[in-house]
Amino acid sequence: MTRTLPIRLGINIDHVATVRNARGGQGPDPVRAALAAIEAGADGITAHLREDRRHIMDDDIARLRRSISKPLNLEMAATTQMLDIALHTGPHAACIVPEKRTERTTEGGLDVVKSHDHLVPFVDQLSRAGIRVSLFIEPSIDALDAARSLGAPVIELHTGAWCHALAAGHQEQADHEFGRIRVAAAHAAEIGLECHAGHGLDFDTARKIAGLPEIVELNIGHFIIGEAIFLGLRETVVKMRQAMDEGRGTLA
Ligand code: PXP
Repeated sequence: MTRTLPIRLGINIDHVATVRNARGGQGPDPVRAALAAIEAGADGITAHLREDRRHIMDDDIARLRRSISKPLNLEMAATTQMLDIALHTGPHAACIVPEKRTERTTEGGLDVVKSHDHLVPFVDQLSRAGIRVSLFIEPSIDALDAARSLGAPVIELHTGAWCHALAAGHQEQADHEFGRIRVAAAHAAEIGLECHAGHGLDFDTARKIAGLPEIVELNIGHFIIGEAIFLGLRETVVKMRQAMDEGRGTLA
């Protein structure tokens, strides 16, 4: 009998930096938010250093690395500049994401099949430096198999299509997308990949997806930072943790 593993909550603090950068000053400080999120029960902190530095800056990554007691997950595009920063910083994990200058957020997963040869040296060098590599992919069998052949130990399933369909009230489409996530999570476990998920999750979708036993980590940002305006960061993290534990069936 397989034992259901607890599910970890990674908090993405990018949009604290978005608000800070709107005024160009020091606050609100994403490192302070990371410390508060950990205090409230986050299992790790995620930050995306984008090529255009629209939210997180290089100095934030260095300060996060120095300041937080829980794992730092650096989201990065597969570029030599980001590879140098990752190798220099030494985060616990690096999640390779596709990045387009014109997008508002990470739209869709990596095309691991087409970009296979480009990704090989990134997975290789990060892994050799002891950084746990994750690939942000669509919930498709081909993408999972390509990730496996690259030797990445972890994949993160892009949940955006499911969350968008739900938010738009397209229930049939949402059910179809959730089915793809369920099948992909099961396949990831079968081929020995650790399975994470994220993008667009809120309390309800996090509760539901936490019911998939193969998914061991969720990375959630925009909703948590937005909800923190109304509830405060601490209460939002506690509520998210509770929703995930309810969905997992591990609520104390
Ligand atoms: N996981 C990855 C790989 C992402 O790129 C993002 C968005 O930066 C997230 C999770 C979090 O998505 P959201 O901000 O919609 O919760």
